[in-house]
Amino acid sequence: MPVLVVRNLKVYFKVRQGWVKAVDGVDLNIDQGETVGLVGESGCGKTTLAYAITQLLPSNAFVFGGQILFGPNGVSLDYRLPYWQTAQERIAKDAEPLRAQLEASPADPGEGKAAKEREELERALNTLKNPLSATYRKYLQPEIKALEKQVDDLGQRWQSGDKSVRRQFLEAQHRLGAAKQEGDLIDITRRKDGSLREYHPKLNEVRWKEISLVFQGAMNALNPVYTVGDQIVEAIQAHEEVDDEQARKRVAELYRLVGIPVDRIDNYPHEYSGGMKQRAMIAMALALNPKLVIMDEPTTALDVITASKIMDEVLRIQKELEMTLIIISHDVSTVAKVADRICVMYAGELVEEGPSKRIFNRTLHPYTQGLLGAFPSVKGSKRRLEAIPGSPPSLVTPPTGCRFHPRCSYAKDICTTERPPYVAPEPGHRALCHFSQDFYNQGGLART
Ligand SMILES: Nc1ncnc2c1ncn2[C@@H]1O[C@H](COP(=O)(O)OP(=O)(O)O)[C@@H](O)[C@H]1O
Ligand code: SF4
Ligand SMILES: [Mg+2]
Repeated sequence: MPVLVVRNLKVYFKVRQGWVKAVDGVDLNIDQGETVGLVGESGCGKTTLAYAITQLLPSNAFVFGGQILFGPNGVSLDYRLPYWQTAQERIAKDAEPLRAQLEASPADPGEGKAAKEREELERALNTLKNPLSATYRKYLQPEIKALEKQVDDLGQRWQSGDKSVRRQFLEAQHRLGAAKQEGDLIDITRRKDGSLREYHPKLNEVRWKEISLVFQGAMNALNPVYTVGDQIVEAIQAHEEVDDEQARKRVAELYRLVGIPVDRIDNYPHEYSGGMKQRAMIAMALALNPKLVIMDEPTTALDVITASKIMDEVLRIQKELEMTLIIISHDVSTVAKVADRICVMYAGELVEEGPSKRIFNRTLHPYTQGLLGAFPSVKGSKRRLEAIPGSPPSLVTPPTGCRFHPRCSYAKDICTTERPPYVAPEPGHRALCHFSQDFYNQGGLART
């Protein structure tokens, strides 16, 4: 059952030159107990996606569309999917005349009334093309009203002693939640237009207790004037009513879990090695027993051996706690050992997604092939560092067609003009490339 569903998420940053399309139409499902590796070079939007999920986006970030569904009891796609599809169909129907009107209006209306009308039209169409939960709810009003009535009626019958309606009542309640798009984290912090809203009390509950994030470079964020133990105690007490002794006991358990000697609790950050600081940050992220943990580049600042030891530890903890985990790294080999599934991100898009083994054994996207070639083989035999030529594009004006085309050695004419579709030649494995089916048929792209 998915714990987290990210649907067609678009997060853009407003900058002087325009909009940075840092996350541009990302779909991602994370199942309970699953570990997903999110990989891609620096600047591809990985951290932005993590910040969007934890609602820690800076104020110049604007959620242009999409949903981040996270339910305390998991997110049941069985209920959500049909409502979502119904809404989509209605939205598409409404968008059609607007599109026609826009096409019929002069492309360069100059100033004045005509220009204003065109602007309005563009805005309305954009809302429909990139719906947030508020739009879905608007289009599901008939269903929502009917379900509300049903919940009301069945609830009353149940309360007055009719036990036979219990199941129906619960189902109607779940359906209502699904139709109302409950559990959308964007709803908590964003206004209808996607801009940032002030603080929302519900947010703190979700953040850290439900989802926790080990920040990129977090180990340098420990406060030098307090002991590490005190900082973890403080984090626990900020969210739960436990006394000092109980909190310290929990810290000791966490230290054992992440492999720091317990007698180091009262040391200051400068007395810790880099690896110990990173372990402490992981301990802090686990302190409140969250449902989902996101680790952003957890080993990037560490030497290879320490990094590998920490990933072994993460793997062990993951198994022990049956944790749901997203590990972000620019280095595929970091996540290879722990991830059940790998998502490859390039220029704000997910370009390949699949079970780790399939990603390695039957690579469908040239970018993934480049990433795999740029890092040591998983089996550890040869170390190759053939970087992909060039660097990720500006996300203000990303390349037309396939965003990877300027760097791709397989690119054909079509790649420069036409956006590739997602191709899924085997279950659970898909890639954003015009030729993925061909690559699949030939047994996947070879390791370079
Ligand atoms: N606050 C911000 N304002 C403007 N642009 C930003 C901001 N934060 C990140 N970006 C840009 O968004 C893109 C994605 O960045 P990021 O999510 O940090 O990528 P990654 O984690 O994959 O390295 C980059 O082009 C980056 O420069
Ligand atoms: S669509 Fe074309 S440019 Fe893009 S990855 Fe595939 S072959 Fe390369
Ligand atoms: Mg990052």
